[in-house]
Parts: sequence; structure tokens; C-alpha cells
Amino acid sequence: MRPESLAGLAATARAEVAAAVDLEGVEAVRLRYLARRDGELTVAAASIGRLPDQERGPMGRAFNAAKAEIEQALAERRSALLQTTRAQAAEAEWLDLSDPAVSLELGHLHPSTRIQREVEAIFAQLGYRVVEGPEVELDEVNFQLLNIPPEHPARDTQDTFYLTETLLLRTQTSPAQIRAMWAQPPPLRVITPGRVFRRDNPDATHFPMFHQVEGLCVDEGISFSDLKGTLEYFSRSMFGPDRAIRLRPSYFPFTEPSIEVDVSCFLCGGAGCRVCGSSGWIEILGAGMVHPQVLRNGRVDPDRYSGFAFGMGPDRIAMLKYGIADGRDLYENDLRFLRQI
Ligand code: PHE
Repeated sequence: MRPESLAGLAATARAEVAAAVDLEGVEAVRLRYLARRDGELTVAAASIGRLPDQERGPMGRAFNAAKAEIEQALAERRSALLQTTRAQAAEAEWLDLSDPAVSLELGHLHPSTRIQREVEAIFAQLGYRVVEGPEVELDEVNFQLLNIPPEHPARDTQDTFYLTETLLLRTQTSPAQIRAMWAQPPPLRVITPGRVFRRDNPDATHFPMFHQVEGLCVDEGISFSDLKGTLEYFSRSMFGPDRAIRLRPSYFPFTEPSIEVDVSCFLCGGAGCRVCGSSGWIEILGAGMVHPQVLRNGRVDPDRYSGFAFGMGPDRIAMLKYGIADGRDLYENDLRFLRQI
């Protein structure tokens, strides 16, 4: 072994380092020449100690030079490769922060749902709890326990989808009154929103499925003036602080007395417009004092307790509030319609 062969070894190693395409390749070259036990340079150096004095010096210097040369080549190649990798990553992951953001498509609540939630929120403030009743109901609960026996004329106005002789799709949310009383003794304040079904042909104001929100309050000493105060509070919260209400006598089999409730038109303020039919009033709900027999059917003692109930249609309120002329629009899921509300 001569000093020149060490230089030759270093030259070969440098060429291999230059040819390495990645860091693993560079490391493989390092191991081939400089590995602690069997690197080619390491092995060559092992014999230096046994050389005669005058040869040992030049060989030692040649070894140091070769080692330094290879180490420098390795370091340079490593840093060159790292730089390329970083540059490639920067190019690949480049993000233009001035790019306009892609806008997300946001959904929103159906108009009827919105009204329903508003109603729930107002009554929640008065201590009402939201409960849901079944859409498939017993004839007994939907009608009979609400004082509507078979052959009762009230059944004519609620043409019914029967599933069996005793099971039907509820035609109103009022059966929830019975179920609420069964579920909990007075004092009782509940709001029941939900779908109801009637065999109506669709037109601008009828649909075979629509929504109702039912309310029921039962306690000792509940009077008609509580009903009136509650309705007034509700109307002002829902339709604005200037609204007045007007009660008209009506008839429902399960309330006595029964009323229909108008609110002064929230579009024209009562002056008269197309929506309120120039009367200045808009009918928004039916209500009344719960009939003693209905309390009894709910296992509530009418000698001790009394209550009031009311029912309204969020679809109708949505139509009035948002100026929807044809109620079918609410159910046909035309996105052009739904998006504008
Ligand atoms: N269920 C009645 C209807 O569908 C509305 C109503 C509810 C009336 C509660 C009085 C009390 O017309």
C-alpha cells in the first residue's frame, strides 16, 4: 500500500458520492469507505502502524488527507441533497394565501321549522316543556278521548288516513294533550310540535301533511284569563310588541269554552291589506279551556284542576310571515324557493 493508492481510493469514493441520488446512497458510500471495522479506508489504515518509521509519516498524512477529502465530499453532497428535497417540498406544498376562499354551501332551517322553534322558545320562557307525540295514533286518543266519538260531525273536517280500524295517522296534535296528562300529574305545561295528516287534496292552503304546535297547561285554579294573558304574551313575542289579539267564540269538542284567536295584522299593522283581507286581523290559532271530560280522560280530577289548550299551524304562520302565496311551495323542496328564505 502506497500513499498514492490512498489518494486513488479517495478519488473513487468522491466519484461515488457525487453519483449518489439520495441520502441513503450517500450513507452507503460512507459505510463502504469509512465504516469503523470494515470500511476500505479503515482497513487500509490498519496496517500503517506496522510500517517502518520513514514510511509511517507519509502514509499517515495520506490517510488523513484521504479521510478528510471523503468526509468533505459526503457532507457537501448531503447538504446539496437536503436543499433539493426542501425546495421540492416547498414547491409541492406551496400555498397561495391570497387565493379567494371556496365558499361553503350552508344549509338552513325550513321556514316551518323556524317558526316552530320560535314558538317553542317563547313558551320555554314561560316554563313549557317540549314533548313529542306519536304520528301513528290510536283512534281512541286522536278522537274518542277528545270527545269525538265515531259519527261525530267533527270527524268530517278531519278526513282521516286510517292504517287499521283502530290505528290512524294523527289528524291533529291534540292527542298529545291526553298523552301528556297520562305521563305527568299536574302542574303541567307542555308544547307539542309535530306533523299531522289529513286526506286533503293539495291546493294553495291544503296539504295532506302539515304541521301543528299544541300547547297545554293544567294546574289548580287555571282560568280563562290565564289563557288570554298567555296568548297575548305569545302574540307580542312572536309578532311584535304592538300586536293586539281578538278572541272569537268557536267550537272544539275538547275545549269548553272554545275560541279562535286573531292577531292584529303584522304586515299592515291593522290598517287592512291583501294578506289580512283588509280586515286588519289574521287568525292564528284555536284554543279553549280543557273540557272536564278530557281532563278525566287524562286521569286528572276536574274538580281540583283546570287547564287550557291551544293549537296553531306553523306552516300558515310561515306563509303569512314570509309572504308565501302557495303553501305547496313549502313541501315541494324546490331549492330555488327554499334558498331565498
Ligand atoms: N286541534 C285543533 C285543530 O286541529 C286546534 C286546537 C287545539 C283547538 C287545542 C283547541 C285547543 O283544529
